[in-house]
Amino acid sequence: MTEWLRRLETAWMRRNAPRPAMRVTNGEGLKPVCVITGASEGIGRELANEFAARGHCLLLVARNEAALDTAANELARDHHVTAHVLAADLTEPDYLEKIQGVVNREGLYVDILVNNAAFGLGGPFTEQEPKRIEDLCRLNVETLTMLTRRFLPEMVERARGGVLNVASLGGILPGPYQAAYYASKAYVISLTEALAHENAGRGVRICAAAPGPVGTRFHEKMGVAGAFYLKLLLPMSPARAARIIHSGFAGRRTIIVPGLLASLNAFWARIVPHAVLTPLIGWILKQRY
Ligand SMILES: NC(=O)c1ccc[n+]([C@@H]2O[C@H](COP(=O)([O-])OP(=O)(O)OC[C@H]3O[C@@H](n4cnc5c(N)ncnc54)[C@H](OP(=O)(O)O)[C@@H]3O)[C@@H](O)[C@H]2O)c1
Repeated sequence: MTEWLRRLETAWMRRNAPRPAMRVTNGEGLKPVCVITGASEGIGRELANEFAARGHCLLLVARNEAALDTAANELARDHHVTAHVLAADLTEPDYLEKIQGVVNREGLYVDILVNNAAFGLGGPFTEQEPKRIEDLCRLNVETLTMLTRRFLPEMVERARGGVLNVASLGGILPGPYQAAYYASKAYVISLTEALAHENAGRGVRICAAAPGPVGTRFHEKMGVAGAFYLKLLLPMSPARAARIIHSGFAGRRTIIVPGLLASLNAFWARIVPHAVLTPLIGWILKQRY
């Protein structure tokens, strides 16, 4: 129903939006590239596979250079695409220049931006390291926002391409004991829905994926690998999550919730009042030692 309303809105905006001033990109001899952050492992690595399988040239960004090189070689071997790599810490202030540097040097333009890199923090907020919370806000919120601000205007000008933000099912409800992480993902969903509205009918896809638990090293890195919610909510494989997310993006959905279980949980989370939901989620997320 919500998706149907969004599609109606897009059709209406398409009829009424001012025609974008088309920039001739082919004449400039630039090649389109799909930039994927956090592509060294997990969902980002699998999304790289999905885009490469459709012939997209890629720019893979993360900190682990060896893992990026391995991914680039595998993608070139399996899908015959060019995969550029950039080893960069996206919480450092120079990440935009670094990405733009590779784009310029290789004669590319950013056609698709996949904001996937993020990390979570478990446990009570008051016990988490302030520096880790700062880095979380930087990576999950600020970097995603500024990369979008940098590349979306050009996409709109070209009337093609898109932004795929990897949020989380956690973004539609408060998450006691993962408070800052859930809040960062709520920001991603809100930003995406607003930008999708602002740019409806302008030829650019703007989507957020909201997966439930996925079987990557994400939870282990947060120190919650044995958590109760992972037993309760059966993690999906990253390959399956990426397949569904890619097909939702290709189908121009605004919010993509991969899988039946996550879709049911998203439905309940949207209709149950937070006064009921928050203590329940707190009970589920609380670490039991
Ligand atoms: N796994 C889940 O259950 C789940 C559920 C819902 C949503 N999500 C979301 O899905 C996305 C991917 O998660 P995942 O499960 O694939 O996690 P993951 O396996 O931990 O992968 C995270 C990726 O982000 C990169 N990254 C982390 N910090 C970075 C930094 N400072 N600078 C540059 N890159 C950085 C990592 O690479 P390097 O370490 O090499 O930098 C890695 O490639 C995230 O947005 C996450 O919030 C995950």
